[in-house]
Amino acid sequence: MDASDWDQRYSSTDLVWSAEPNQFVEQICSALKPGTAIDIACGEGRNTIWLATQGWKATGVEFSAVALDKARRIAEHNGVDVDWILGDARTVDRIVDQRFDLVLFCYLQVPDSDLVEALRAGAQLLGETGRLVVVAHALANLEGGVGGPQDPAVLSTPERVTEILTDLGLVIERGGEAQRTVQTDDGERTATDLVVIAGAQHQR
Ligand SMILES: C[S@@+](CC[C@H](N)C(=O)[O-])C[C@H]1O[C@@H](n2cnc3c(N)ncnc32)[C@H](O)[C@@H]1O
Repeated sequence: MDASDWDQRYSSTDLVWSAEPNQFVEQICSALKPGTAIDIACGEGRNTIWLATQGWKATGVEFSAVALDKARRIAEHNGVDVDWILGDARTVDRIVDQRFDLVLFCYLQVPDSDLVEALRAGAQLLGETGRLVVVAHALANLEGGVGGPQDPAVLSTPERVTEILTDLGLVIERGGEAQRTVQTDDGERTATDLVVIAGAQHQR
């Protein structure tokens, strides 16, 4: 899906995603000391806005202008200060020259070659002691998991994300699948995500 496909998907007034942060983002980032954060492919900004409310100096990047506009309006409505940047995840390192304590990718669902580019660009923005966090629908979610894309080409595995980040010189702190409970009209169902945390260097 390109930016105009996503613009269309975001064009209704309703939220496409939840207003609350993703549960893994919340768990992982609550344990970190707030600093500077960049949320790449931020969508309607649920995680970016939550990070800002937790004391992070947060930046959201997104290539759908419609999503970014929604994110900006939600933040303003709630009196939350966030820097919003219209830009492509694959080339974000060309438009942002700051380094961040947290580089977040949450449900960026793109083909492997785009994922490699986006993670490369994100890794360029990682400060010396920062963390790069990837949360995504796992390929294994296709086997009975709820939600997420059904196209295997835009789904990955913890092993593949770990391999890309290791090739970029990052140090893996956590990598694996994680189950997420989802409330549906048919009751509780389970989604299989992947969660990978990497640092620019070994953390003490
Ligand atoms: C499933 S949504 C997740 C949004 C948000 N991270 C969240 O968790 O609510 C995927 C987002 O990735 C964005 N996206 C996809 N490819 C992108 C790219 N190359 N550059 C920037 N954003 C991209 C889409 O526009 C969409 O907002």
